[in-house]
Amino acid sequence: MQEKLLEKFKELYGADGDIRVYFAPGRVNLIGEHTDYNGGHVFPCALTIGTYMAVRKRADRKVNFYSMNFEDLGVIECSLDHMNPKEDGEWTNYPMGVMWAFDGRGMKMDCGLDLALYGNIPNGSGLSSSASLEVVTGYMLKDMYGFDVTNVDLAKIGQYSENNFNGCNCGIMDQFASAMGKADHAIFLDCNTLEYEYAPISLDGAKIVVTNSMVKHSLVTSAYNDRRRESAQALEDLQQVCGIASLGELTEEEFDKYASSIKDEICRMRGKHAVYENQRTIKAVEALKNNDLETFGKLMNASHVSLRDDYETSCEEVDVLVEEAWKIDGVIGSRITGGGFGGCTVSIVKDEAIDAFKEKLTAAYQEKVGKTPEFYVVSIGDGPSRLI
Ligand code: GLA
Repeated sequence: MQEKLLEKFKELYGADGDIRVYFAPGRVNLIGEHTDYNGGHVFPCALTIGTYMAVRKRADRKVNFYSMNFEDLGVIECSLDHMNPKEDGEWTNYPMGVMWAFDGRGMKMDCGLDLALYGNIPNGSGLSSSASLEVVTGYMLKDMYGFDVTNVDLAKIGQYSENNFNGCNCGIMDQFASAMGKADHAIFLDCNTLEYEYAPISLDGAKIVVTNSMVKHSLVTSAYNDRRRESAQALEDLQQVCGIASLGELTEEEFDKYASSIKDEICRMRGKHAVYENQRTIKAVEALKNNDLETFGKLMNASHVSLRDDYETSCEEVDVLVEEAWKIDGVIGSRITGGGFGGCTVSIVKDEAIDAFKEKLTAAYQEKVGKTPEFYVVSIGDGPSRLI
């Protein structure tokens, strides 16, 4: 992958000088959805697919961007002196936003860059192509300019730039998973404190399978921001009757006791999901530690039901994938993963059932939705690195 990118870089910008290549992974979340910005827990892992970035310093203050995923856009020119988001949500807003956020923290780039990128995460699949792009940019800046930042800082800077430069009020999960990924481990992260623990994922006789619905609904960012607002409203109402700082502090019983203080029914549903999903995540990690994969799978299924019915971030196509998966022998658990409104499901499937899983799901999805899903059997990878 990096060789092809390097070749492209040289073709675009010439072969001389110190050209480096960096990588940062995407992520899949096993459980703990829409809990990160509600002060709860998440349990994602980094993938071995992600974003590759080839780069060389320039003598002036220009930044040239090129993506092999958007070849028709050609080289896009920006300047370090005018770091403003471009209209139409252009992809360059993600790396530019990270440069802008570094700059705002006093980490000034003293010269521009030539950049060429390639990503092998399917766009809009809910596997965090944007977070991997933010993290690879941050990691590259740290290495190229000697900025003093940790990988946790890179996660925070990525989230900050996505919130404030790109206008999506995402939580910290995706950037944290990409920046802090560890091969063969998932990250049990408390988003309230950023305390985390690596949990080894060695599923005895089973694998994590990601299924891409191949649909991405429009207005994802605005729907996502709506969910954030609605759960914030639930919290505000609850704060009238109990002294909590986030929904992640409540148990299910406490939520049920105080739920009637949430005036709006939709906000109550959002609040319920946030509280119950957080507790499910804690229980799921506990189950995994006890090698109780069956309980883990049941909690994944319950997570999907809650996202479908209470948080309403699933969609018909993804529901078909999940509900059909539940019918297949050897499927331990299956749910929507990521922000929602399309994208991917994550399933735990016994080794011997993986072929049947792919065949049956493909047939059912083609019949009911008229599309062909794509499958990835997941390998859990490391965080960002310099490759060349
Ligand atoms: C998106 C956001 C994350 C998180 C998930 C839902 O991926 O970027 O911060 O909120 O949705 O769990």
